[in-house]
Amino acid sequence: MILVFGSLNIDLVAAVPVIPGPGRTVLAPSYQTHFGGKGANQAVAAARIAGPGQVRMAGRIGRDGFGDRAIENLRANNVDADLVVRSDEPTGCAFITVDHAGENAITVASGANMTTSAGDLPAGLFGPDTVLVLQMEVPFAQALEAARRTRAEFGTVIWNLAPVPEQMTRDMVAALLAVTDYLLVNEHEAMDAAAAIGFAPSDYESAAADLARTGDLTCIVTAGAQGALAVTADDTRLRAPAPRITPVDTTGAGDTFVGAFAAMLSEKAPLQTALQVGCDAAAQKCLTRGAQAGMPMRAAIPSLA
Ligand code: RIB
Repeated sequence: MILVFGSLNIDLVAAVPVIPGPGRTVLAPSYQTHFGGKGANQAVAAARIAGPGQVRMAGRIGRDGFGDRAIENLRANNVDADLVVRSDEPTGCAFITVDHAGENAITVASGANMTTSAGDLPAGLFGPDTVLVLQMEVPFAQALEAARRTRAEFGTVIWNLAPVPEQMTRDMVAALLAVTDYLLVNEHEAMDAAAAIGFAPSDYESAAADLARTGDLTCIVTAGAQGALAVTADDTRLRAPAPRITPVDTTGAGDTFVGAFAAMLSEKAPLQTALQVGCDAAAQKCLTRGAQAGMPMRAAIPSLA
C-alpha cells in the first residue's frame, strides 16, 4: 500500500508573459483553478499508475468548498481519502504564475495543511508493504513521526525534500536522513540539503553522494531535461534520460516523478525501471496545464509498455 502523508491544495493559476519580480505587477487574461498540493499530486500520480485500491492519502482540509472538491478529486482518481480530516483552518491554496517557457513561481497559503497530524494515522495502518511518501508542506515533526512509525513496522519511506524550508537546520536534515530509504530532490534541493549538514559539494551529483552516504539511503535527483540520477549508499550510480519535450507547464512535474517512483517501488520494480518510469511520467505531465491534468495512466508510459 502506498500511503501519502501530505498537503492538499487548490491551485489558482495565471499564465503570464513574465513571472513578476518584487514590486512588479503583470496582467494575465484570466486564471484557472486546478487540483494541487504536493501530497495530493503525488497520490494521484501514483494511483494513475498503480491502479485502484493501491493508494491512500492522509492530510487535512478545511470545512469549505475547496475541501469538498479536493476529496472528490482524490476519490475520482482512485485514491482512498478516508484519512483526510477536516480542520478549522481553510483548505490550502496555491497562487501560481506560469510563463511562456512553462516555468512557474508558487506561493502556498498552507491553511489546513499546517494542522496535519500523525495522530490521524491509526495504529495498525503500517506494515512491511507500506510505502510512505512524504514532502515538506505539512509540519515537519508530524512527517517525521509518520516516518518513524513506518520504519518501526519495516515499511519503506520516500521523502521528497520539497519545498526546502527557509530555515533548514542541520538537525532537521539529519533527522530526516535517519528515517528515509529514498530521498527525492531536485538539483537545488540536493545542494541545499548537503550544505545544511556541512558539505560543500561542487555539483548535485556530489551532493547526492554525500546525502546517500550520510543517511545510508538512496538519493535520487531529478534534473529536468537532464533526466534523473540515483546514488546508493555504496555509491552505485544509475541514470535515466528524460524524453525530449517542449513543456507548457512544469507545475507538478516533480510530484509526478515521486508518485510514479512510489508506484514502481510498491510493486518491487528494479531501481532503474522506477527511475525511467518517473522520467517518462514527469515529461508527459509537462505537456498539459495544471499539476495533475497531464499525469499519465499506466498504459501511456512507454517504459511500461
Ligand atoms: O509541486 C506543485 C505543487 O506545489 C502545486 O500543485 C501547489 O499546490 C504546490 O503545493
